[in-house]
Amino acid sequence: MDLSNDFQSWAAGIQQRTELALDKALPEANIAPNKLHEAMRYATLSGGKRVRALLAHAAGEFCRAEAHKIDQAAIAVEMIHAYSLVHDDMPCMDDDDLRRGKPSCHKQFDDATALLVGDALQSLAFQVLSAPHLHADAEHQINIIHLLAVASGSRGMAGGQAIDLASVGESLSQTELEFMHIHKTGALIRAAALLGAYSATALDEKRISAIDHYAQAIGLAFQVVDDILDKEADTATLGKTAGKDADSNKPTYVTILGLARAKVLAQELFDNAIEPLKSYGAEATRLVQLAQFITQRGF
Ligand code: IPE
Ligand code: IPE
Ligand code: MG
Ligand code: MG
Ligand code: MG
Repeated sequence: MDLSNDFQSWAAGIQQRTELALDKALPEANIAPNKLHEAMRYATLSGGKRVRALLAHAAGEFCRAEAHKIDQAAIAVEMIHAYSLVHDDMPCMDDDDLRRGKPSCHKQFDDATALLVGDALQSLAFQVLSAPHLHADAEHQINIIHLLAVASGSRGMAGGQAIDLASVGESLSQTELEFMHIHKTGALIRAAALLGAYSATALDEKRISAIDHYAQAIGLAFQVVDDILDKEADTATLGKTAGKDADSNKPTYVTILGLARAKVLAQELFDNAIEPLKSYGAEATRLVQLAQFITQRGF
């Protein structure tokens, strides 16, 4: 993949400010209960591509939101995402020992701590978004909170995870698989972009609907690529155990379509995602570059 230096340095800047904002929002490890706080920081800081933060900023910039407001949306979504990974790795779910190149949270600490890390990160995300006066218009602020609540819950990420676990050993149709992926991963990716867009004070409905279309396609593409990488990439590159889906008998885009057609699908989803952005020309550059990064990473 050959993305311009300009994109790389933009992304590095967002990753850095996201790290700083997360560091500031997370309680220090020397505050009681120390172990829980240490584990929350372990699971959230220093690692991850920060794709959801990048999406929030790319969409937020496109909708002319202020960067400091987008930061709060970005870290809230990254906290929900980090919590979902901590729980996803637990023995009762995917039972994975490696995450972001380090022992998974329950390996580094213990199961009970990992469970509580997830609980506490989820609460902290909503604490961040509900901070007094984050937005001048309280109704606007509630709409943002509502959006993330729906995307995280049983009609979003948590629901998708439930379908994932119920699908072990099953042969799903492509439509059923799509339904699962749209929920377990797509919902939060979509929320990341929409929260970025809604961080603007004046909302431009046409731009927001372009972002929504883009984010839905990219959200699905993200999990298609995750399935491809589970099969194709190695553990060192991924920072998580490669080949885990096949070992666990999970239906994925690779098992249903095969590698080649899964890659074609990722490309089609990219084309579809950027369609409504074309009329915006250079203003949509970051969003297009980010879609490229998401759909072409690793292959
Ligand atoms: C992994 O997400 C889990 C999925 C939803 C597919 P990421 O690939 O974004 O994980 P990090 O944040 O970069 O570690
Ligand atoms: C994870 O899907 C989705 C969520 C954590 C919500 P996976 O189980 O495929 O994620 P990885 O491959 O372990 O990162
Ligand atoms: Mg999983
Ligand atoms: Mg997993
Ligand atoms: Mg995976």
